[in-house]
Amino acid sequence: MEQADIVILGAGAAGLFCAGSALGQGRRVVVLDHATRPGEKIRISGGGRCNFTNLAASRERFLSQNPRFAASALSRYRPEDFVDLVDRAGIAWHEKTQGQLFCDGKATQITDMLLNRMRGADLRLGSQPRSISQIGDRFIVDAGQHKVEASRIVVATGGKSIPKMGATGFAYDLAQQFGLRLVETRAGLVPLTFAEQDLALCRPLAGVAIDAQIAHNGGKFRDALLFTHRGISGPVILQISSYWQPGETLLIDMAPGRDVAQELKRQRGQGGRMAVATALSAILPERLAAAIVAEMGLADARLADQPNARLEVLGARVNRWPIRPVGTEGYRTAEVTLGGIDTRDLDAKTMQARHVPGLYFIGECVDVTGWLGGYNFQWAWASADAAGKAS
Ligand code: FDA
Repeated sequence: MEQADIVILGAGAAGLFCAGSALGQGRRVVVLDHATRPGEKIRISGGGRCNFTNLAASRERFLSQNPRFAASALSRYRPEDFVDLVDRAGIAWHEKTQGQLFCDGKATQITDMLLNRMRGADLRLGSQPRSISQIGDRFIVDAGQHKVEASRIVVATGGKSIPKMGATGFAYDLAQQFGLRLVETRAGLVPLTFAEQDLALCRPLAGVAIDAQIAHNGGKFRDALLFTHRGISGPVILQISSYWQPGETLLIDMAPGRDVAQELKRQRGQGGRMAVATALSAILPERLAAAIVAEMGLADARLADQPNARLEVLGARVNRWPIRPVGTEGYRTAEVTLGGIDTRDLDAKTMQARHVPGLYFIGECVDVTGWLGGYNFQWAWASADAAGKAS
């Protein structure tokens, strides 16, 4: 039986980072992953440029049943600490918007940097942990071809999003095996889908993008909304999807900061024979304006003929579009998994299971989920560093 100080399960963002932090403490570290390449989600992240952190990564930007849980790790490992690593590795980066930092070049530079940082650890790819057992204060990981005994196990196998890339519910099963509680999981940062009757409006609009604002269940975002063949997507929808629950109606402001009814009334006051659709297309993309006007039976109507009440209904249709998505695109395309290991059963400083000394959970498998924009990687680095230094 091989001996190690720490076995890390999962060679994704959190697992690789944790290995580097633990090595810094002089530990013998083994990292196991069933994939044939490490850091696959890093490779595809941020459109291939990896949005590796966000300068505004405070706990308010994360969803969890216990919103205070993430504060400790996030305050001890900060975005600036990761930027420092990136700078020292000579990786060029830029701030895109709202504190989001991206590589100028390929995302794989981040994986290479993490692999360099954990040089000295034993990384075993294509290795599927079959069972984890505990004998006294030691854990035994049975990975088929090899068995490793260690005093610490760090679970960094991520969430359920993108099963095609090897995502599994392994962390949740293991947590249950050791008596930890789970917060129900669901897809987050994910496009929303529509029922057939709503698709009649949306399908012809596929590809149209607008600036939109949505406030729902405590989340409020303003960003691009994209109509798709199956519903709506774009950053503002991904963000609000993490706050939305099935069965709920969203109110979408398709012209934030503008009172559409007032603008149409003002326009009407200027006289002329302008069509309603033409007036609305000064506010919305032409295809969307035409679709809304047609939906309201005003396709050929003139603005001058519309009473106030009708312009108010039209304005509300733009500023407060009520839409009830039928669902989400699910784990197939979700960027993250909401819910996971219940933080009540973890120590916020070390990520160690409260009732199972030596067992740690880090990264996406924990019930801490960030907004879109580099927050989820920052959580992976911060939780990994906390566990790596403590273990
Ligand atoms: P991660 O999923 O990275 O790693 C888990 C590892 O465990 C994988 O290597 C997997 O193979 C392995 N594993 C799983 N089950 C196993 C098993 N049973 N046995 C052995 N190994 C197993 N975030 C962000 O901040 N900025 C961004 O730009 C993006 N972009 C982005 C794009 C896309 C398309 C997606 C899907 C996600 C993002 N994210 C993101 C989210 C980010 O990728 C995610 O939050 C982190 O990768 C989570 O890191 P973890 O290490 O926890 O899991």
